[in-house]
Amino acid sequence: MKAANEAKNKIVRENPRARIDVLELDLCSTNSVRSFADNFIALHLPLNILINNAGIMFCPFQLSQDGIEVQFATNHIGHFLLTNLLLDTMKNTVKATGIQGRVVNLSSIAHNYCYKKGIRFHKINDKQGYSEKRAYGQSKLANILHANELSRRLQAEGVNITVNSVHPGLIMTPLFRHSAALMSMFPDNH
Ligand SMILES: NC(=O)c1ccc[n+]([C@@H]2O[C@H](COP(=O)([O-])OP(=O)(O)OC[C@H]3O[C@@H](n4cnc5c(N)ncnc54)[C@H](OP(=O)(O)O)[C@@H]3O)[C@@H](O)[C@H]2O)c1
Repeated sequence: MKAANEAKNKIVRENPRARIDVLELDLCSTNSVRSFADNFIALHLPLNILINNAGIMFCPFQLSQDGIEVQFATNHIGHFLLTNLLLDTMKNTVKATGIQGRVVNLSSIAHNYCYKKGIRFHKINDKQGYSEKRAYGQSKLANILHANELSRRLQAEGVNITVNSVHPGLIMTPLFRHSAALMSMFPDNH
């Protein structure tokens, strides 16, 4: 919240007319996602664009409060649930404004580096056989499948909301905190 409020203050300093509300959200916790969605909906704001951007990468094996492997929980489940909980608000906004809605999932080229058989649906939370890198790839593949299927469903329903996934390029950010080798390749960029 401290970082979010600092970002808010910076934007407002540069553009005093900007209106920004900061709300707490921990995507790794389904309780937090639900309470964020309740708080957002209670503001009665329109919702045109949802960018599912948050992510963690190459973490050692760990389970979330909900008992879900943390990369899958944060990168996929949190965003999947959030999108579902906010979808009616997005649909109502499209109806009220006539403006196309957009959902964007930040995925990664790393979706190619998944487990051999793709998503380990029956072993998502198993420590045995866990690979930090493949688990990240798995969560990013899930981001793409989520976008593709939601897009298909919304088109079938005739709803004017696009859903896409994107690989943003390779940029040295705190995302790489669990990868000392990659961090050392870009020592000045971080
Ligand atoms: N950077 C790259 O080269 C690259 C390449 C391909 C794909 N991507 C994807 O692009 C997206 C953004 O990555 P980035 O490089 O900008 O990473 P980043 O600088 O580390 O930003 C990730 C953001 O996600 C937030 N976050 C992490 N866990 C969260 C949680 N449980 N609940 C809420 N927020 C959480 C972080 O908040 P805190 O700062 O509070 O931890 C941070 O603000 C990710 O989805 C990543 O997989 C990045």
